[in-house]
Amino acid sequence: MSAPVLTFFNNKGDIGKTSLIYHLSSMFAKLRKRVVVADFDPQANLTAAFLTEDQIDEVWNSSMAGSTVYQCVKPLSDVGDITRPVLRNVAAGLYLLPGDVALSHFEDTVSEEWPKSMADVNLYRPLRILTSFWQVMRMAAEEVQADMILADVGPNLGAINRSVLLATNFVAIPLGPDLFSLQGLRNLGPTLRRWRISWKKRLDNWKENPECTQYPDFQLPLGEMRPIGYLCQQYGVRLDRPVKAYDKWAERIPSVYRKDVLDEPPDEEKKIENDPYCLATIKHYRSLVPMGQERRKPIFELTSADGAIGSHAGAVQDARKDFERLAQKIAAEMNIS
Ligand SMILES: Nc1ncnc2c1ncn2[C@@H]1O[C@H](COP(=O)(O)OP(=O)(O)O)[C@@H](O)[C@H]1O
Ligand SMILES: [Mg+2]
Repeated sequence: MSAPVLTFFNNKGDIGKTSLIYHLSSMFAKLRKRVVVADFDPQANLTAAFLTEDQIDEVWNSSMAGSTVYQCVKPLSDVGDITRPVLRNVAAGLYLLPGDVALSHFEDTVSEEWPKSMADVNLYRPLRILTSFWQVMRMAAEEVQADMILADVGPNLGAINRSVLLATNFVAIPLGPDLFSLQGLRNLGPTLRRWRISWKKRLDNWKENPECTQYPDFQLPLGEMRPIGYLCQQYGVRLDRPVKAYDKWAERIPSVYRKDVLDEPPDEEKKIENDPYCLATIKHYRSLVPMGQERRKPIFELTSADGAIGSHAGAVQDARKDFERLAQKIAAEMNIS
């Protein structure tokens, strides 16, 4: 696939993942990249950030095939095939593949195909289903000549997320400085390695199988899932916790990331502030956040007409710089100019 897929992933929820994707995708589009955002979280929070309730109602209840991620893959649960996605143009150069609460129906279908995809015969259909999200994202990227795809997923290690991850070239891991995030990170690293290895086995199995020659045009993702770093909430994003509690967990993150995600020796000396694997520390943007949500705008695009006056105006400029810096760092990691 020409456009690389970046997924923000952590099996811990409520760490600002969706908010990050919403702002970053808008920033990339501002920097004149063509971006597809794909919402694979059945909670569909990302979709709700971009679209009004009436628009979501229209997307979910229209009979238009391909109007959400679930509508694209739904025919596979029966005897059908993938439907081309219908993207929503949400800003200049920015296209949304809407999420769907009904996507959870697809979890069982996907999970049943994992063992079948390693059998000796009849591999095409299971592989088609396991890679359906990759196929859909490829169609989406082709449709709008995207430079990149950003994917949001729910906070779990289930079959849907495994399928999204194997469609993923790069993985960024948002986390908070707390026990649950750290434990999540310890689970996540080995899980990604396991998923990578098991996908490689399936690719080899397919290539060696006579069925492969019957489908010469059938392409499969490489299942790279390359970690490009983590993003950590700064002290204060959780207002209710003392600074000592923050420090205690924050200082363990560089070592846990090296050991459990990269399978490298831990570096006890490294601090988040000087860790090259730390893509950014995420500030608490305070009242800009509800202001942005209400106006359905990224916080760095709020104006005085939206209520961003006085100290808010300065905070808007700071947020713009933060997201610009982060977008450039991530683009470099993804080899996008
Ligand atoms: N940098 C931030 N500053 C202030 N509030 C934030 C920030 N990032 C996220 N939030 C708020 O925290 C909550 C959880 O964020 P969300 O992006 O939905 O997390 P996740 O997708 O990981 O569950 C939301 O209410 C969101 O508005
Ligand atoms: Mg979310």
